[in-house]
Amino acid sequence: MTTSDRHGRAVARAGANFALVKYWGKADERLNVPAVGSISITLDALFTETEVELAPKQRSDEIVLDGKRRDEDLAKITACVDLLRRKAGIDTRVRVASRNNFPTGAGLASSASGFAALVRAAEAAFGLTLSPRERSIVARQGSGSAARSIFGGFVEMHAGSAPDGSDSFAEPLLESTAWPLEVVIAVTAKGEKEVGSRSGMTRSASSSPYYAAWVAGQPPDLAAGRAAIRARDFAALADVAEHNCLKMHAAALAARPPLVYWNGATVECLHAVRRLRAGGVPVFFTIDAGPQLKAVCAPGARAEVERTLRAVPGVLELLASTLGRGAELR
Ligand code: PMV
Repeated sequence: MTTSDRHGRAVARAGANFALVKYWGKADERLNVPAVGSISITLDALFTETEVELAPKQRSDEIVLDGKRRDEDLAKITACVDLLRRKAGIDTRVRVASRNNFPTGAGLASSASGFAALVRAAEAAFGLTLSPRERSIVARQGSGSAARSIFGGFVEMHAGSAPDGSDSFAEPLLESTAWPLEVVIAVTAKGEKEVGSRSGMTRSASSSPYYAAWVAGQPPDLAAGRAAIRARDFAALADVAEHNCLKMHAAALAARPPLVYWNGATVECLHAVRRLRAGGVPVFFTIDAGPQLKAVCAPGARAEVERTLRAVPGVLELLASTLGRGAELR
């Protein structure tokens, strides 16, 4: 019997994911419906493990992240768990203990793996059995990118158009084993980022002159990303992923006040990756709302990508991962 078989307590693990065609902007802030669809890869080596335990005597939920109480995160977590409490028809509070095996809030997708693991564990603790799609819809309401970490490998998130958000969910595009790409992350700064993705998106939408163009340009990028993944066409995926990433950052840079998520080392890494690819190495970059650069490469290219990024001044640490599975009970 695993710990998760016992009703009332469950442990789940979910991998972080990075978008290759990005989510940036919301269509509905209350339901956390994204303004655009997105395509991501789920990682194996960067994950969150979360234990949820029913606490019938408590009057509020409790969250401990990496051994520290996080009262500042409580409202978001309670709101997400409330969706499951409503489905289960119970009102019991929970104790949540969560651990990331990588830095939290530094642009490494900790909210994605965090909410995916939370939803999977809370569902089991409440004795519910949701479909993967329902899980994805609940996770989305915790964090948009978390809807994707419910699944492994290559994943597409649909923005949807239903007013209640019922068609805004992720689904798998391709198994990780079908195209085992690898990821090298160049960590160029530690500590939590200054402007989180939620407020960065709001600021971009309300003040960036390029935001409307960003949203309008997403359907062709999604189509190109989907086609590249289905055909396992590395050059085509590299082309659309770098274009889409730079477009997202262009919209953010043009916000007021500006959102400059990069530091000098981020930019040096970007050039290093482009030089490698120009020299025939199958690698491309992506960057999220933080200064870390993620290099995605074909199997076999990882050692050379690591050697190159390690030599870039300002790179503090490298993390590496293969693609992984969706959120699972432990
Ligand atoms: O799910 P959030 O609120 O952490 O937003 C994710 C935003 C980006 O990481 C920049 C892009 C993405 O699609 O993951």
